[in-house]
Amino acid sequence: MLALIGGTGLNTLEGIGGFDLLHKEEIATPFADTQIQLSRYVYAGTELLFIPRHGDGHVVPPHRINYRGNIDALRLAGATRVVAMNAIGGIAPELCPGAIAIPEQLIDYSYGRISSFYEDNLEGVVHIDFGEPYNQELRQALLEAAARVNAGCQQPATVIDGGVYGCTQGPRLETNAEISRMRADGCTMVGMTGMPEAALAREAGLDYATIGLVVNWAAGLTQETITLDEIYAVIDTASPFLHALLRELIAPSSRVQ
Ligand code: HPA
Repeated sequence: MLALIGGTGLNTLEGIGGFDLLHKEEIATPFADTQIQLSRYVYAGTELLFIPRHGDGHVVPPHRINYRGNIDALRLAGATRVVAMNAIGGIAPELCPGAIAIPEQLIDYSYGRISSFYEDNLEGVVHIDFGEPYNQELRQALLEAAARVNAGCQQPATVIDGGVYGCTQGPRLETNAEISRMRADGCTMVGMTGMPEAALAREAGLDYATIGLVVNWAAGLTQETITLDEIYAVIDTASPFLHALLRELIAPSSRVQ
């Protein structure tokens, strides 16, 4: 079963055409004192799970998210594939505000986050393979769904296949020098929530891929200050495409690419 992890700008699927809420569930996991809340939806006869990464009402900052609780709850509820939605800053020139990226690689600059299900397991050291952090089949399914949506609309979205997601600690945005360093490292986009989520999904045996929505140019790439108002304006404009992409992923139409 597919699970969606909503990021900034997608806190719920309620109100999105065609998605019907079946019920909300509370899942107990060993990784959280309180139960993790998730929602079970149906779209075109297909059930899916949804969890808002920042909690109901977008209240949990990136460094305080219970990434282990969220991933374990999705696994326990029956998820096998996870599509994560992340707002990102664009570093590469093609990743302008409004563009969508399906990254292929990542570099983790975050720190102090509990980043493994095996953190306290001293019975045996577990090293997962993480050379390819994102699942290629799921990435391809997203790219094909995006191409079908674009084929059927008058103003196609810019969709970038690949790129390197740099995960910073937040909640502050980066300095100009940090972005220069990340660009030199090969990062094409920057966000705060991609890790340890992707690694935990791998540890849990879940296929995982990310839809990155570029909501601003990364620090130092324009003269302008990054404001939340502008970020939310980009999210509003991009939302219809994102919703169509999710629909197309879940129930592919026969539209010719
Ligand atoms: N930096 C880090 N995370 C982000 C950004 C950014 O510029 N935009 C959206 N999430």
